[in-house]
Amino acid sequence: ETAPSPSPEQIDLSAPSVIADPYPAYRALRGRSPVLYARVPAGGAAGLGEPIRAYALLRHAEVLAALRDPQTFSSNVTDKIRVLPRITLLHDDPPRHTHLRRLVSRSFTPRRIAELEPWIGRLAASLLEATGDGPSDLMGAYAMPLPMMVIATLLGIPAERYVQFRSWSESVMSYSGIPAEERASRGKAMVDFFAAELEARRRAPSGDLISALVEAEIDGARLDTPEAVGFCVGLLVAGNDTTTNLIGNMAHLLSERPELYRRAQQDRSLVGPIIEETLRHSSPVQRLLRVTTRPVDVSGVMIPAGHLVDVVFGAANRDPAVFEEPDAFRLDRPPAEHLAFGQGTHFCIGAALARMEARIALNALLDCYESITPGEAPPLRQTRAIMPLGFESLPLVLRRS
Ligand code: HEM
Repeated sequence: ETAPSPSPEQIDLSAPSVIADPYPAYRALRGRSPVLYARVPAGGAAGLGEPIRAYALLRHAEVLAALRDPQTFSSNVTDKIRVLPRITLLHDDPPRHTHLRRLVSRSFTPRRIAELEPWIGRLAASLLEATGDGPSDLMGAYAMPLPMMVIATLLGIPAERYVQFRSWSESVMSYSGIPAEERASRGKAMVDFFAAELEARRRAPSGDLISALVEAEIDGARLDTPEAVGFCVGLLVAGNDTTTNLIGNMAHLLSERPELYRRAQQDRSLVGPIIEETLRHSSPVQRLLRVTTRPVDVSGVMIPAGHLVDVVFGAANRDPAVFEEPDAFRLDRPPAEHLAFGQGTHFCIGAALARMEARIALNALLDCYESITPGEAPPLRQTRAIMPLGFESLPLVLRRS
């Protein structure tokens, strides 16, 4: 097996400090080689078991090229690593992926998303109403419940059980902090729950996303239960953790920039650019894996067939070859160059929904609070899951308008 130097032992993207803030590592490594053979932690959405050795892509050009070539860079990594459970769509390749994607895309059309807007607005306002004035953990009070309640409602499952859904979703994402037995039991509870929900919709469809999955057919065949469950789990996880971190990262960046917060209050046309720059600067989905289907030359480095590739969106989004002053938070960048939602075949199906949720969430904050400033305790960055960048807690002081 040929590995480009330096050897994987020297490059470890799995240390908790790197997960908490990966940007210094990206900065130091990006210039060394277009492809780095690295050690990434196993666990959660990135598989269970032994640490993984993967070819990491940290530059914008190589990340984009891999995303645009799903024939070579397959998403079907579940033969290579054990993930729990397999996520339908995310882990599928064309042509099956194309059929499956058509099934759910109806639930994410601009019209369908726009219909949700007034309701999400009321939900955001009521969460902030309950949060009140003064010191508060913005993650627990706002950034966590809002997206979870939205995706639960879309799926058609009881939104008030969001704390439980969150604990399930955490067990899919994290690789440490949850003992193996606990992870397995949460995973089983989640799978059983969705299997029962699917069964109930088979008897009595109710027009929600789960009913759509039950009724869906591909080439005259219904989805089997594991595939339908894998869809529900994927939407539950993708629909909440990601958007939670976008809202949290954005609030954190603004809490450190009171000037910008005040400007945005006066000029709401800044809300869109703030969201896009947060997605680029502090990408909620840092990375996802692919597996090579053939030997492939990536900018002069040969990656053998059947190898895992770590596609690091977060690093690509700070590539100085594409973004001037990549570490600066700037609102004057050309739009849509970032890869925070991926690109091509697997481009995030929930991007329009996530953007709308973030827009509503930020506008509600700006309406409600004259200022949001750092609290006494420092924010706690998450260090247990390799995919997301975000905070476990974000203590802020909120001052009502
Ligand atoms: C795919 C990011 C919100 C559902 C993706 C991908 C990324 C991403 C990077 C590409 C995966 C790949 O290339 O393998 C994000 C971010 C979000 C967000 C940063 C929020 C800020 C959402 C929401 C939903 C969602 C709200 C659903 C309600 C999905 C699904 C896929 C996906 C189902 C798989 C699509 C496919 O494989 O064809 N997302 N996402 N995402 N996202 Fe999102």
